[in-house]
Amino acid sequence: MATQYPSLIFLGVLLALIFSLVFAVDQGALQDFCVADPKGQVLVNGLVCKDPKLVEAQDFFFSGLDIAGNTSNQVGSKVTPVFAAQLPGLNTLGISMARIDYAPWGINPPHTHPRATEILTVLEGQLEVGFVTSNPENRFIRKVLSKGDLFVFPIGLIHYQKNVGDGYAVAIAALSSQNPGAITIANALFGSTPDIPSDVLVKAFQLDNNVVNYLQSKF
Ligand SMILES: *[C@@H]1O[C@H](CO)[C@@H](O)[C@H](O)[C@H]1NC(C)=O
Repeated sequence: MATQYPSLIFLGVLLALIFSLVFAVDQGALQDFCVADPKGQVLVNGLVCKDPKLVEAQDFFFSGLDIAGNTSNQVGSKVTPVFAAQLPGLNTLGISMARIDYAPWGINPPHTHPRATEILTVLEGQLEVGFVTSNPENRFIRKVLSKGDLFVFPIGLIHYQKNVGDGYAVAIAALSSQNPGAITIANALFGSTPDIPSDVLVKAFQLDNNVVNYLQSKF
């Protein structure tokens, strides 16, 4: 029996090392915060932590979400993000917010957040919202929301909002990542740099080459 103890101790040390490595990756489990420092040199989670002794209230603060976004564009909506890039104190905390303004009949076009679930509440107006489940069902789930209503878009799923009223609409969204990311489907597929070869899009979407060229010129 005694000869087995050294190997047990070795196993214990190994397990402790693996655990400490795994948890070291999750900075949030080790410290209160990691305020993003744009002047930092070493990138962790895309950003580096500001020296906690130099952190101040301003690092956890953002002002201006009362200001309406400019919706004079092709889609008639504007997202004002408050992510770690705008509010450095959000870094590593796994949460963020955005204001979305909609012109009458404007849309926030189909898009997905690769790193976040989104919960949205309507402050003004009426929005039709929808998302599509993943393959193979691709079920379309839709609802019309009024002021005070909430709706959740599960992480990664393609979703949109549409202002179904004659007036302006405003929503506030909370997202489960400090850096949720956004992929706007039309822009990603028809407006990539460089272009996706048109024959790929012709086959994928069963479209005429002229239509693909037209879409590529629009995005
Ligand atoms: C809103 O955006 C449009 C288009 O870019 C621009 O012409 C207009 O001046 C902007 N309006 C304001 C108030 O900034």
